[in-house]
Amino acid sequence: MAILIGDTAPDFTLESTEGNIHFHDYIDGSWAVLFSHPRNFTPVCTTELGFTAKLKPEFEKRGVKVLGLSVDPIEDHRRWVGDIEETQGTALNFPLLADPKGEVARLYDMIHPNADNTLTVRSVFVIGPDKKVKLKIEYPASTGRNFNEVLRVIDSLQLTARHQVATPVNWENGEDVIIVPSVSNEDAKTKFPEGWKELKPYLRIVAQPKG
Ligand code: BEZ
Repeated sequence: MAILIGDTAPDFTLESTEGNIHFHDYIDGSWAVLFSHPRNFTPVCTTELGFTAKLKPEFEKRGVKVLGLSVDPIEDHRRWVGDIEETQGTALNFPLLADPKGEVARLYDMIHPNADNTLTVRSVFVIGPDKKVKLKIEYPASTGRNFNEVLRVIDSLQLTARHQVATPVNWENGEDVIIVPSVSNEDAKTKFPEGWKELKPYLRIVAQPKG
């Protein structure tokens, strides 16, 4: 059965480049990004993992633990890590999960048989501290993902969780946001004492809350 936004992220135990990981224990109240790549020793994946390693301070700032996964064996992950550092200028600094039997890949629907019967597509799951899936993105094998976009969505999700605001089209961190429809004007007066701009009763624009 497909994993959908709002579902509990399935638990699993797998070997990784940082030892055995029991997923729910590992994320332990943090936000998490779990992403798959099709295969080790491939060009697009090498660039993605290097760039994601560079973003580690940004993920840490947001309290997010990052984990990569492919159906390659752990020995191959260990051999590939050197290539990532050599070509991308950053050592891998987050766990790469080895799922050679494809069990977790199937659990998360990361294998799309009409694309490839055994390899994972480029899936991204953002999981909240409540272990629920907050975001699911899927890219084909030949298209490298935009991990800046993953950070942007995490910023939006965290603002919604903390302040009951949503983010408009093409929003970037620091720009105005939208008061979610479930907040009444009465409650909004307390939450946003500096006021908001009401373009329509359902479209209330407010400066991005701090914190
Ligand atoms: C890759 O680098 O992972 C890749 C590139 C082209 C097609 C499929 C995968």
